[in-house]
Amino acid sequence: MNQELYEKITQKKEFSQLPRKDVELAMEKFGRKNLNDWQMIKLTRQFLRKIYSSFSSRKVFSSKGKSADWYLMKHKSSKERFPYYKEVYEKCFQNFKKASVIDLGAGINGLSFTREFLPKNIKLKYIGIEAIGQFVDLMNEFFKKEKINAEAIHLSLFELEKIKEVIKKQEEPRIILMFKVIDSLEVVKRDYSKELLKEIGKISDKIIVSFATRSLGSGKKFSAKRSWLIKFIEENFEILDNFEFGGEKYLVFSNKKK
Ligand SMILES: C[S@@+](CC[C@H](N)C(=O)[O-])C[C@H]1O[C@@H](n2cnc3c(N)ncnc32)[C@H](O)[C@@H]1O
Repeated sequence: MNQELYEKITQKKEFSQLPRKDVELAMEKFGRKNLNDWQMIKLTRQFLRKIYSSFSSRKVFSSKGKSADWYLMKHKSSKERFPYYKEVYEKCFQNFKKASVIDLGAGINGLSFTREFLPKNIKLKYIGIEAIGQFVDLMNEFFKKEKINAEAIHLSLFELEKIKEVIKKQEEPRIILMFKVIDSLEVVKRDYSKELLKEIGKISDKIIVSFATRSLGSGKKFSAKRSWLIKFIEENFEILDNFEFGGEKYLVFSNKKK
């Protein structure tokens, strides 16, 4: 790996705190293409922007002291989910009295746990795992200020062993959230989400994966694109529920009972 190019790519604030592993994987994509340094830097940054930072307004990186709602409305995923959070969490956490919630590729979704979106009479511990260091810091600031049982961790989802370690450390039952993150993983490393799901399925009680059902082209094209994921989940897991709110489809599943 070219250290000088790595440093140039990560000079931009939005990429400055990405895990090294993620930047390296992106650089590998263009490494074999005979590009000059300038092209390599430009294309790698474009790629990283698409996968990591394009969902959020730059204001999230530069503004201090705003409310949780203000930040949630500055990130595309949480903004679109905002009117439905209560219903979504009602469905995700039904039948649980307590749980550890591990949110993979959290964005700033952890801030929704500081709001009144959670069902009453349930005790949750929230762990958000996210590649963008600034989002991790922002979530931790809020958790500290609001004194809630939650933590954000700066880690790449491509660090499978470390992810498993974090999950195993949490008290059972464990619920894994993977909201709108499968696409990002697949663009960087094809079929990686299958490996990840198989591994976390063994150490969790319930997994909830979501993806957008509109906004990227026609509905038809979309369902074709998702069929591999649905087929994989049907073959390897027991589907417990599926529902849709505000252009986001949620699949709830767990490991097959022996
Ligand atoms: C579309 S956003 C969704 C955010 C959040 N799950 C939500 O729905 O509100 C995808 C997030 O996944 C993060 N992400 C993508 N690939 C990742 C990886 N390999 N490791 C950790 N985080 C990742 C991105 O930085 C981004 O914040």
